Amino acid sequence: MELTKPSIRITTDAAEIDLDWLHAALSERAYWAIGRSREIVERSIAHSLCFSAFDGPQQVGFARVVTDEATFAWVCDVFVEDGRRGEGIGRRLMEAVVGDPRLAGLKRTVLATGSPGFYAPFGFVALEKPERWMMRPGPGATG
Ligand SMILES: CC(C)(COP(=O)(O)OP(=O)(O)OC[C@H]1O[C@@H](n2cnc3c(N)ncnc32)[C@H](O)[C@@H]1OP(=O)(O)O)[C@@H](O)C(=O)NCCC(=O)NCCS
Repeated sequence: MELTKPSIRITTDAAEIDLDWLHAALSERAYWAIGRSREIVERSIAHSLCFSAFDGPQQVGFARVVTDEATFAWVCDVFVEDGRRGEGIGRRLMEAVVGDPRLAGLKRTVLATGSPGFYAPFGFVALEKPERWMMRPGPGATG
């Protein structure tokens, strides 16, 4: 069964991002970013590769990639509008991420998720040696 709606358009043009939608989606409905300020959302997208899904003029999905475009990338803030899940929009976003030439050939692309089954078809596997990974939590960490 084909779930992908042909009307969905994916763009990496950050100027097209609907900031009102994105800030509300992340700060009110994304469990890892509850309470994230608009200023932090704006700063995060200014320093990331951003993937946006649109149905006509309406933004219905988003994914953000923090990367040096040479060795490493971190996929985060993957979100599809609540009422639009299960239509293939998340898959379209991830296809765009793994197919982006700026992210081709990187040594590692990582992410943290509560939904590993969603990412597995795009080549993501569990960390090989998780004991080697460390983190330095920041003040008021908001994901
Ligand atoms: C996870 C999320 C991005 C998926 O987007 P979506 O548009 O609903 O996903 P799609 O319709 O493109 O589904 C693609 C495939 O992934 C599967 N899938 C969707 N959500 C999944 C989940 N949470 N866990 C495992 N598999 C999932 C679908 O069943 C589908 O499988 P199929 O190809 O066998 O049919 C979306 O549900 C979402 O925004 N959830 C809330 C935020 C979130 O959890 N983000 C990820 C945090 S890391």
